[in-house]
Amino acid sequence: MVTSGLLPWAAALELRRALRQGGCPDWEFEGPFLVELVTGRQPRFDETPLDQAQAHRLESLLQKRLARVPLQYLSGKWDFLNVTLKVGEGVLCPRSDTELLCQEGASLLEGCPSPRVLDLCAGTGCVGIGIKSLVPAARVTCLEKSPAALPYLGENCTAYGVDWVEGDLFGYEGRVPAGSLDLITANPPYLTGAEMASLQPEVAHEPAMALDGGEDGLTFYRYLAARYQPCLKPGGWMALEIGWEQGPAVSALLEKAGWTRVRVCRDLEDRDRVVLARRP
Ligand SMILES: C[S@@+](CC[C@H](N)C(=O)[O-])C[C@H]1O[C@@H](n2cnc3c(N)ncnc32)[C@H](O)[C@@H]1O
Repeated sequence: MVTSGLLPWAAALELRRALRQGGCPDWEFEGPFLVELVTGRQPRFDETPLDQAQAHRLESLLQKRLARVPLQYLSGKWDFLNVTLKVGEGVLCPRSDTELLCQEGASLLEGCPSPRVLDLCAGTGCVGIGIKSLVPAARVTCLEKSPAALPYLGENCTAYGVDWVEGDLFGYEGRVPAGSLDLITANPPYLTGAEMASLQPEVAHEPAMALDGGEDGLTFYRYLAARYQPCLKPGGWMALEIGWEQGPAVSALLEKAGWTRVRVCRDLEDRDRVVLARRP
């Protein structure tokens, strides 16, 4: 129980204890993080006791976190690469794993003076905005279907000079002028039916539409491989985030659909995370 009059460092210890007991895996980091969220100051250097409103807000955040609401939703914003994005209920939390997709995508644009990029399944816009931050000359458009995610996407894209559009990946390729793009990126929903049935508590708070990739997890990749190649310039690239066990299956889909130079990139945990493929 967080009460007014507590010094911030003591409140942080109290939160750590409660979060640990509640089974929150990152309790050590999250205790002081939540206190700073409420006071705006690092608890270690703060001599001002919590007032009643702060104690009340902190207790409410603690209860939500114990109910395993993602920390990102409680914060309302999250750092990704070198940008800070608005995030909340209704949109997938940006994950550091996804930074690799931006880095690989950006490296494919080297030597392209004013590249055109389309990011499908944009969510907060982290991929498109991340690429724009790494390649400022890029003209990036983000596409998203979910009405709940669009307000976050709109606000983030406006803040970082990226275009965004509401639309459905299944059919949007018909609205893209043929041969107009240098790079297509996507982090599509890719969980299998079995994975959807056993989500971690935090992930269960995130929208199913952002996660569910169909029974075998490959529904979106099948469509992307089959339909999006004509949108690219000859020699243009597609870069896709994948689940760590999907490298061989997604590579096979792309090769079968006539893509070349198909390559799987591994993340910092040495797991398959991104697949690259080129239009011949
Ligand atoms: C795995 S999330 C990725 C979000 C963001 N790119 C990221 O990396 O954090 C997939 C996103 O695809 C969106 N989505 C699902 N079906 C879609 C469709 N048919 N057309 C466009 N977007 C779709 C979801 O709403 C969700 O925002």
